[in-house]
Amino acid sequence: MSDSWGPGSGFSTGPEAGAERESPQNLPGYPQGTPAPGSPGDDSVSRETGARADDVSRETAVVTGGPVTAAQLAERAAGFDDDLTPLARAAQATVMVRAGIPQEELDRPAETRVFVVANQKGGVGKTTSTVNLAAALTQLGQRVLVIDLDPQGNASTALNIEHRQGTPSSYELLVDGTAIADLAQACPDAAGLWVVPATIDLAGAEIELVSVVAREQRLKKALDAHPRIGTAAAVGPDRFDYVFIDCPPSLGLLTLNALVAGAEMLIPIQAEYYALEGLGQLLATVDMVRAHLNPELAVSTIVLTMFDARTRLAAGVAHEVREHFGDQVLKTAIPRSVRVSEAPSYGQTVMTYDPGSPGALSYLEAAREIVTRGSMT
Ligand SMILES: Nc1ncnc2c1ncn2[C@@H]1O[C@H](COP(=O)(O)OP(=O)(O)OP(=O)(O)O)[C@@H](O)[C@H]1O
Ligand SMILES: [Mg+2]
Repeated sequence: MSDSWGPGSGFSTGPEAGAERESPQNLPGYPQGTPAPGSPGDDSVSRETGARADDVSRETAVVTGGPVTAAQLAERAAGFDDDLTPLARAAQATVMVRAGIPQEELDRPAETRVFVVANQKGGVGKTTSTVNLAAALTQLGQRVLVIDLDPQGNASTALNIEHRQGTPSSYELLVDGTAIADLAQACPDAAGLWVVPATIDLAGAEIELVSVVAREQRLKKALDAHPRIGTAAAVGPDRFDYVFIDCPPSLGLLTLNALVAGAEMLIPIQAEYYALEGLGQLLATVDMVRAHLNPELAVSTIVLTMFDARTRLAAGVAHEVREHFGDQVLKTAIPRSVRVSEAPSYGQTVMTYDPGSPGALSYLEAAREIVTRGSMT
């Protein structure tokens, strides 16, 4: 499998695809007659959210078959009054989130679903997807635990969780065997979201764990021992519905702990050519873990991130990924959006920073897909 994803894979993006840009109206599948972004007839932009002109893909999230407008995404936001315009829906989403009211109450899974968010490639949207899907799930009535397993602590920052050196964190979980219940902090901006932060101490954990017995099982042990993780029958209504483990950009012992602990793997793929490199190695690692350490592990979810529907390159990558992974790929792709990238600097996810923005609506839709299609393992 690795051969098919290497640089010599024959993957075609068309001539000068990286530099080529074209209007989304010209792309296959783009709704005909759609006004140009920013034109007077374009009501796809959440104007009251202040999305900026350089938010290049603000009107483009992808659903199988072609891009759809943010207005269409807003229309899909269930639970809203059908008579509302897309802009009014976006505004309503904002109001509901500000008031702390779930946008929708979806059925909870019968058992906690544990997602490993991993891709050894850096900067592909692992952390952004982790925190925004987690926050989106709470807006759909789910209870979520995020475990930050990256010494960079980006997920902790985005979720506004204390993670200065010395804060009880995933380091204590892995190295000292501290219980998750003693480490998790409630996210101040999302009811039902809890976080085990990562501090810089975690950078030393890979080395410190080398001499520890069953060093790749530490996280699994901690999750198994948590009284709020398990089936509805065993744990009751206080259980976590979803656990998201945000991995660092490497395939070392930290990521291995996550792969052993989780059943579902979520791989974010940036819709850029180089993002496909290394995927073969990642999948080979998954196969190895499945064969020797965790037979339950399956790549259940692929999410396309930073999608810019104006480039043939992005469309080509999306097509290739969908051909290879099929139903594992979420129909909703996450558009490249300035609001998504600036949210962490305010200690927020885009789900609370700008709930009516295309990035937030896309993550909400992606979360809804994850819930409604259920576990694919
Ligand atoms: N949809 C998006 N639109 C715009 N910027 C984005 C989007 N998703 C992610 N980014 C930005 O891309 C950068 C990398 O994202 P992120 O930190 O989530 O990747 P990562 O895979 O977790 O990185 P690392 O490998 O370092 O852990 C960040 O600056 C983030 O704000
Ligand atoms: Mg990260």
